[in-house]
Amino acid sequence: MTHYDLIIHGGLVVNADGQQRCDIGIRDGVIAALGTDLGTASEQIDATGKIVVPGGIDSHVHIAQPSGDGSVMADDFASGTLSAVCGGTTTVLPFCLQQKGQSLREVLKDYHAQAEGNCHADVSFHLIITDPTPNVLGQELPALVEEGYTSFKVFLTYEGMRLYDDEVLATMDCARETGALMMVHCENEDAIRYLIGKHEAQAKFEPKYHATTRPQVVEREATHRAISLAEVVDVPVVIVHVSNGPAMREIRAAKERGRAVVGETCPQYLVLTADDLDLADWEGAKFVCSPPPRDTQSQADCWEGIETGVFDIFSSDHCPFRYDDPNGKLSAAGQQSFRYIPNGIPGVETRLPILFSEGVAKGRIDLERFVALSSTNHAKLYGLYPQKGVIAVGSDADIVIWDAGKSAPIEQARLHHGADYTPYEGLHINGWPVLSMLRGVVVMADGEPAGAAPAGQHLARARSPLVAVAQAQL
Ligand code: URP
Ligand code: ZN
Ligand code: ZN
Repeated sequence: MTHYDLIIHGGLVVNADGQQRCDIGIRDGVIAALGTDLGTASEQIDATGKIVVPGGIDSHVHIAQPSGDGSVMADDFASGTLSAVCGGTTTVLPFCLQQKGQSLREVLKDYHAQAEGNCHADVSFHLIITDPTPNVLGQELPALVEEGYTSFKVFLTYEGMRLYDDEVLATMDCARETGALMMVHCENEDAIRYLIGKHEAQAKFEPKYHATTRPQVVEREATHRAISLAEVVDVPVVIVHVSNGPAMREIRAAKERGRAVVGETCPQYLVLTADDLDLADWEGAKFVCSPPPRDTQSQADCWEGIETGVFDIFSSDHCPFRYDDPNGKLSAAGQQSFRYIPNGIPGVETRLPILFSEGVAKGRIDLERFVALSSTNHAKLYGLYPQKGVIAVGSDADIVIWDAGKSAPIEQARLHHGADYTPYEGLHINGWPVLSMLRGVVVMADGEPAGAAPAGQHLARARSPLVAVAQAQL
């Protein structure tokens, strides 16, 4: 009789392409069999009445990323990845930020040193390119893509980080030549700076003005521009953290024209609005992120994008700062003007409960689409499939068990991130992950860390299949 390290019994096993009630046999951290009457096992888990899905993959998180203004991120790799697994995410793709003048090797060395031995989830790094010198684009990036760093992000906003259009084009050309996948943060920096100047001249400093200085149109324009620049060079592009209908429709139109454009949205654009930035006593600072949360029409538009396939991936854009902290949202400068409040909100632990509750439990998406948006599409897009993103024989045993009947509000007191608040406090959630497993080892049970030693590994990635397809078409 076949023997396994572990068998998960009787759950409804859901992949992006279908579901079946079956047992899962796991050996050496890998899924070894699917079926019934599999044999014996050293350990058994009863998943009867539960939903069993591939471990979540969050392909947009910021952990331990330094900021030029002295603010300090609330999560290091230990807390950020622990928070991830407690929310049903077993792989995260954090960004490694190149500071101007820095070599990419130096950047990666630093992040690897911080992550090594501390991660509770698997990690795989994207780069952020802020200084696309001939050496970076001609030497460093091509070598790093070969080594499995197959994606990078650029910004069209943030002074000191944004690229100008000619730099974007050169970086896109490098992506095309090396087969890397490029992600773009789409907001028009010049328009934002102009609007900030106007607001400050009128003594408008409160957090709510973060939203009015970054209106939908600056995102729509930059989205259109990024897609157009990608068309000039003929390269795929990922438009990250889309917040509203006009930007979503730019992506839809590009897809309809046959462009390889991928859209990502995030929980904050489904359940928060700009009204949250208007809380009394500077509490609106808790919701400052870019692009900012919009309005209920934008929420509906983002849902339409999810339901109709304009958005292929659902990420957290976890970018945590403490609120009541001189190195966080309430820094001395941050209390003077919205423009100095560090941008970003925590969300790696709440991403999937929000998608499950607002999406699956409310009947907007089915379980298969939940798996696609939360795991499979990330794995496919970023070159991790089928090692990750699917419950199949030969894949890593990264498995999460969900209890659709578990109902409770999100509460800061129950979360595991390093932030001192959650922007989703009190949001009622129907359906919670109750067990997370990383390569066959239980890392979360009943919403709490299971006490396993940090065994997360860094994953070198293949090139995105999207890039390969686009190149083959040339
Ligand atoms: O406000 C945000 N989103 N901060 C994180 C950095 C980024 O733009 O993704
Ligand atoms: Zn961004
Ligand atoms: Zn981000």
